[in-house]
Amino acid sequence: MIIDDINGTVELSNGVKMPYFGLGVFKTKDGEEVENAVKWALEAGYRHIDTASIYNNERGVGNSIKASGIPREELFITTKIWNDRQRNQTVLEGFEESLKLLQTDYVDLYLIHWPVKEKFNQTWKVLEEIYRSGRAKAIGVSNFLEHHLKELLPTAEIMPMVNQVECHPYLVQQSLIDFCKSYDIVYEAWSPIMRGKVNELPLFIKLAEKYQKSPVQIVLRWDLQKGIVTIPKSVQRERIIHNANIFDFALTGHDMDLIDALDRDEHFGAHPDTFDF
Ligand SMILES: NC(=O)c1ccc[n+]([C@@H]2O[C@H](COP(=O)([O-])OP(=O)(O)OC[C@H]3O[C@@H](n4cnc5c(N)ncnc54)[C@H](OP(=O)(O)O)[C@@H]3O)[C@@H](O)[C@H]2O)c1
Repeated sequence: MIIDDINGTVELSNGVKMPYFGLGVFKTKDGEEVENAVKWALEAGYRHIDTASIYNNERGVGNSIKASGIPREELFITTKIWNDRQRNQTVLEGFEESLKLLQTDYVDLYLIHWPVKEKFNQTWKVLEEIYRSGRAKAIGVSNFLEHHLKELLPTAEIMPMVNQVECHPYLVQQSLIDFCKSYDIVYEAWSPIMRGKVNELPLFIKLAEKYQKSPVQIVLRWDLQKGIVTIPKSVQRERIIHNANIFDFALTGHDMDLIDALDRDEHFGAHPDTFDF
């Protein structure tokens, strides 16, 4: 894969093209904060925005997109169904509320946010229905480990196209990456810059000097060279621009391996088997 452009894409199993780089908006406040973050990202060339109903900022994302004047078909918008709506079986209502807040007729990608036990197979049926209606161009899952996928896949009529999981140098989960690949499921990283902590890792400080880039830029480039879609979050204009400045260099295979070797199976966020929300 050639990675030389912020608008480069990976092709999902149904042919939809997903930009491999985007803006995450977790913990970004609705209103001015998210509207500015999305505005600055779009100005910097981003075309992929990752939100979720639980982030409570879909309205602001929608406002900013609308104000940008960028044709809808040039954008890639992801949102996710929250756990309570899986538990009380109001998935379709949740989806429709998201569309309304985002002020759009469709999302590009709709995800099951977490694998709620004994519910996610049922939720998936609703996502399949949404997909068939054309109101989600692609559907997928988030925080699914191999055993969750093994439970979902036999009953799925439509295969998930994406799995968005926590992924960074301390949590590579190469076997999950390989498993997803074998089912043509695109792997997407959340918390790709370890919420800023990557700046403190000695290997990254060294590589940053070698490539004349920052540790954050190195880790985002590592994602893309591994074929992983990445969605760093920032609400700061300079950082939004800085994080996207990764298309003019390439890590060597040896340096990719050095980063892979940092893996210690460490989750910073909730674990998909023990989350309690
Ligand atoms: N599916 C899921 O369950 C799930 C869970 C978590 C996240 N996500 C998605 O993934 C996205 C990214 O993950 P994340 O937000 O958890 O973490 P992240 O992108 O790894 O890190 C974001 C943090 O790093 C800071 N930051 C951004 N650019 C920086 C830079 N150049 N130098 C230093 N610090 C920088 C940000 O602060 P400032 O904003 O102040 O710049 C923010 O505190 C989320 O926004 C969300 O869309 C999904």
